[in-house]
Amino acid sequence: MQRAAALVRRGCCPRTLGPWGRSQSSAAAEASAVLKVRPERSRRERILTLESMNPQVKAVEYAVRGPIVLKAGEIELELQRGIKKPFTEVIRANIGDAQAMGQQPITFLRQVMALCTYPNLLDSPSFPEDAKKRARRILQACGGNSLGSYSASQGVNCIREDVAAYITRRDGGVPADPDNIYLTTGASDGISTILKILVSGGGKSRTGVMIPIPQYPLYSAVISELDAIQVNYYLDEDNCWALNVNELRRAVQQAKEHCNPKVLCIINPGNPTGQVQSRKCIEDVIHFAWEEKLFLLADEVYQDNVYSPDCKFHSFKKVLYEMGPEYSSNVELASFHSTSKGYMGECGYRGGYMEVINLHPEIKGQLVKLLSVRLCPPVSGQAAMDIVVNPPVPGEESFEQFSREKESVLGNLAKKAKLTEDMFSQVPGIHCNPLMGAMYAFPRIFIPAKAVEAAQARKMAPDMFYCMKLLEETGICVVPGSGFGQREGTYHFRFGLFGAVGSLLRSVGSPLRCTGFL
Ligand SMILES: Cc1ncc(COP(=O)(O)O)c(C=O)c1O
Repeated sequence: MQRAAALVRRGCCPRTLGPWGRSQSSAAAEASAVLKVRPERSRRERILTLESMNPQVKAVEYAVRGPIVLKAGEIELELQRGIKKPFTEVIRANIGDAQAMGQQPITFLRQVMALCTYPNLLDSPSFPEDAKKRARRILQACGGNSLGSYSASQGVNCIREDVAAYITRRDGGVPADPDNIYLTTGASDGISTILKILVSGGGKSRTGVMIPIPQYPLYSAVISELDAIQVNYYLDEDNCWALNVNELRRAVQQAKEHCNPKVLCIINPGNPTGQVQSRKCIEDVIHFAWEEKLFLLADEVYQDNVYSPDCKFHSFKKVLYEMGPEYSSNVELASFHSTSKGYMGECGYRGGYMEVINLHPEIKGQLVKLLSVRLCPPVSGQAAMDIVVNPPVPGEESFEQFSREKESVLGNLAKKAKLTEDMFSQVPGIHCNPLMGAMYAFPRIFIPAKAVEAAQARKMAPDMFYCMKLLEETGICVVPGSGFGQREGTYHFRFGLFGAVGSLLRSVGSPLRCTGFL
């Protein structure tokens, strides 16, 4: 030992014996000699190339993190290197990531998460009793009382019970069964899992999935990945992006000529369009799904984000039950919620749940089998979901602070929604529908023919061209409407309601003017 230490001090390593009893350094020398005498060979063709890769994955597009966002990253690096621009920072209005844009986390949620992650803090007087009570309940339901253990594939039992209790409260007493609740890795995971089970058939009997246009691009991406058939139905821009059942009828009839329409996806409140569906509209959609034998997917991740005083969130589950047993015992429905949106904005925890109604018992078995291949959703995300569905109640120590923080976030978003709508309405060349909910504006931009030609000459979609100019000239990063889908010949962009909306909006008209768009 002393000799080895002395050798290390002198900069020499003691020789160790390799697997065949020779010193490793002499074996290495021989190996490198053999390599040297071998003739140089050209690299073998790679197994995985753009031509040989899974074509369905190649077809996937996800505009929210597309070329504009890459360009924004490049510009940020240039600013860091001191390159002068007409602005000093890039404002990322491209993504619905509230905390990345400065929104503060809800204290209670983080307190419970801290206690669950480091249970020694349960002895600390710095944490309120109601947070400790939640953390103990979650930990007791985890293997080894630790957030670091796997859970059941469907999710931690007591969290599923809390989700069911939340849904029952939200829906004014319509019962929810914990057995129908699946905890997921964000809502994205639930949506892609259920679509995976739904898609089947070949040729004209391949599954058609009806999605709104404009849509949240997760849907088109998963449809591509699964090689399903995308069936577009258009939201009515002239009528505040309302969903019109006649348009659903048109889309389904047309789709029947080349596929088997089996799934109808609804996003309410809407991303990117911000509309909130009326109860009547939801009833019509459910009746349509019943009539056409369609499996309903209700994406309700923005259920807490309703700003317009004239609108109210109605869950598909509640309306389905209120329509009577013919509907409530027949229409198959999966609805989704998430920790990422609402007032929490906890996107990074990847928490979510899916509630399924009228799913065939054998399919439930298949679903659990599929979920168990990936073991379980992150248990920390499940814990975050639990706090969202089981917040402090009146009389509990944290209730007042929790309510204040929640109202402040939602109040701010409501103000930004109004401000955004008003400011866009004043910009020549832009039209913005009322922002009723969710977290974005999707204004229409009227791009003159000359600018469309200029974009086409650069092989760019005109709205991509506009958004690139906006980024380069003002530092504002938004997503072109083409990434969400839009009616032929119309152009839009999606703008997230975060950050310094007021100062941003003053610049939005400028690229229309200074780049000859107007
Ligand atoms: C309509 C909609 N559905 C689903 C998601 C995915 O959310 P999550 O972070 O829970 O996966 C988003 C995210 O922006 C969304 O806007």
